[in-house]
Amino acid sequence: MRIHIIHENDEWLPPFAAALDAAGLPWEAWHLDGGVLDLDAVPPEGVYWSRMSASSHTRGHLVSKDHTRSVLSWLESHGRTVVNGRRVLELEVSKVDQHAALRAAGFDVPRTFAVIGDHDRAREVARRLPVPFISKDNQGGKGLGVQRFDTHEAFDRYLADGFVPPVDGTLLLQEYLQPALPRITRVEIVGGEFVYALTADTSGGFELCPADACAIDDAFCPTDGSAKFQLRRDFTAVDAAPWVAFARTWGIGIGGFEFIETVDGRRVTYDINTNTNYNPDVEAEAAVPAATVIAGYLGRLLAAAGSHATVTSSSRA
Ligand SMILES: Nc1ncnc2c1ncn2[C@@H]1O[C@H](COP(=O)(O)OP(=O)(O)OP(=O)(O)O)[C@@H](O)[C@H]1O
Ligand SMILES: [Mg+2]
Repeated sequence: MRIHIIHENDEWLPPFAAALDAAGLPWEAWHLDGGVLDLDAVPPEGVYWSRMSASSHTRGHLVSKDHTRSVLSWLESHGRTVVNGRRVLELEVSKVDQHAALRAAGFDVPRTFAVIGDHDRAREVARRLPVPFISKDNQGGKGLGVQRFDTHEAFDRYLADGFVPPVDGTLLLQEYLQPALPRITRVEIVGGEFVYALTADTSGGFELCPADACAIDDAFCPTDGSAKFQLRRDFTAVDAAPWVAFARTWGIGIGGFEFIETVDGRRVTYDINTNTNYNPDVEAEAAVPAATVIAGYLGRLLAAAGSHATVTSSSRA
């Protein structure tokens, strides 16, 4: 009986491996990128944690998303304990799904158009937004396709030259959120509890993947100790309550929510991450690192799954 980590990027595992090992918890990685699933097989007992990433295709893992969909459906049909299960995967891989869910829950969200399929239409749709505006991939992660345009003509030029169609065919055009301070805030939640909030300095650009080891180059993923990421000490569990409630409602066991506080006083949530990579500097500064909180959470789930399995097998005997 162990913890199974469903993922597709070995480079992102070490902080979690270290925390699980330190807690003495048995675990194994399930690297999903194609294979055979016997639908009549019974999945091993244990706890499953999906860390499938929206950006998996950028690492050449073109079927990881669908492989994970299949595996999660199979696990859930057997009643296995799954952290960030089937429904959460859909949030991870679609900013449209995130937007719809956040809006329904009463969050302020950015005005957004989804251009699906024929991207020539984007030219006309963009003119329904004032400048500046943002374009981004629906299936994002690590700032995929995120660009700011200060004129509609600049966007036309981008469409004609340099535009890479999003992997799921859905391009988002979005209101630019003018921040009051050059930063975004990310609220980290584990097991339905607030862990900490951090800020990311956006004065240098939009690419904010905080991973210790990232598959993209340093220019896109600065973890150089430049204090780009900082613990936000003035943000408390009371402040985090709306995002915590959302995470509980949606069964997001482990996730981070990003918002921007705008010059006109709005607090706008624009991104949900369900496979956060925690910044090492922030982790070092936090009262308890998120990786440690995760190990505790998964350990409790494993103990509960173990006692359930024992009851089930003894009641069957
Ligand atoms: N509507 C917006 N207005 C202003 N800035 C934005 C907007 N959308 C995104 N950004 C900036 O671009 C960054 C990346 O955007 P977003 O989080 O939506 O993409 P992502 O692919 O999910 O990236 P990540 O995996 O790093 O979270 C944001 O953190 C923010 O700095
Ligand atoms: Mg983001």
